[in-house]
Amino acid sequence: MKLIQGFSKLSKEQKVQFIANRLSNDGQDQNIDAQKVKEQLLSFWHSDKKLQSTFDEFSENTITNFYLPYGLVPNFVLNNEVYTVPMVIEESSVVAALSKAAKFWSTRGGFKAEVIASEKIGQVHFIYEGDKESLKSFFEDKKIDILNSLAPITVNMDKRGGGVRSIELVDLTDKEENYYQIKMSFETCDAMGANFINSVLEAVGKYLEDSLGEDVQVVMCILSNYTPDCRVRAWVECPIEDLAEKSIGMDTATFASKFARAVRIAHIDPHRATTHNKGIFNGIDGVVIATGNDFRAVEACGHTYAARDGQYRSLTNCKVENGNFYFEIDIPMALGTVGGLTKLHPLAKMSLDILERPSANKLMMIAATVGLAQNFAALKSLVTSGIQKGHMKMHLMNILGQLEATTTEKEQIVNHFADKVVSFSAVREELNNLRS
Ligand code: MEV
Repeated sequence: MKLIQGFSKLSKEQKVQFIANRLSNDGQDQNIDAQKVKEQLLSFWHSDKKLQSTFDEFSENTITNFYLPYGLVPNFVLNNEVYTVPMVIEESSVVAALSKAAKFWSTRGGFKAEVIASEKIGQVHFIYEGDKESLKSFFEDKKIDILNSLAPITVNMDKRGGGVRSIELVDLTDKEENYYQIKMSFETCDAMGANFINSVLEAVGKYLEDSLGEDVQVVMCILSNYTPDCRVRAWVECPIEDLAEKSIGMDTATFASKFARAVRIAHIDPHRATTHNKGIFNGIDGVVIATGNDFRAVEACGHTYAARDGQYRSLTNCKVENGNFYFEIDIPMALGTVGGLTKLHPLAKMSLDILERPSANKLMMIAATVGLAQNFAALKSLVTSGIQKGHMKMHLMNILGQLEATTTEKEQIVNHFADKVVSFSAVREELNNLRS
């Protein structure tokens, strides 16, 4: 394998040519035609050149766009308001399941949510080789001065009602020789706030270096994506008998108890908890991506929170008590509705318009509730008909798409497989039968 020098300096067209050549000449598959590779990559370029250059600038070494489906979940009743929720997700069944859960709860009081707190954290990690007590008194003496020195960075955020909320010196020398942190908390209003927080932290790091000289080594200044105090609780509840619905196929008390047990199992067993929470993030990630937020940050934080007592557990809880069914999610969620991609990506902007331009807190509640709804839908299927029934319907449509079935063929095949097991080969065979 040959290394290439200066790849980033090539034009976009040259990068396309490079990969087309590599696929056709150096690749395993000698049948790949370079011209076809180029044509395919170019076919995903946007016809609006200005828009295309906006997309290109989001990242580096871009050669084309990678499409993902953008769908809508209607009738999402949250805190007595009706939302249409935009979702970017490639996995079939997620939007369908969410839509069903939204409809189900829309006639049972809807979803409820509250933001418990919206505090973000950042840390300056540093080594101090001088005397511990003199560091502590330096920090106490200079705390106000440090905060005042940040004014040029914080002035706008302060005006919006945000800014630095606390600053403390943390002694971790029992874990690593001479290791301390300046730990700060922030309110970043409607911004996710990563740039703001990191700029503040770097200024604090510089203050330490300027004031403490050679005794200090700043290792790094960076926000923490673990924000347990930037958190949402969302829930649904209703009398057990109101859970009645044809698709449940059992009495409501049995359903409620099986459902609650399924949640308990995800608290007991990390293998199940991982899949359970993965389903929750099927919903959350869809909204987070659609609104131009950072799904890696949201996931990393959620998973850390799920393991906060030392074992990875469910992010949802269920109680069936005194004839009542109660199901909640308690999840950290740091999202923004200004800055970053939220204005730059035209569809992220449109998603926020569809959600009626929410504040960051409102968007956090929407995303957490979508996670709860997704988990409700998954568990409802799992403890009743099983997950494959719904999945297979969508899977069948995907297979039919791949086999280029016509609309009439699709209708006939869907009818045929209504009571049969779906597999690629079985569908291909049935389609061949039809066509012959
Ligand atoms: C599939 O993407 C997600 C589920 O496996 C979630 C779950 O099992 O709870 C259906």
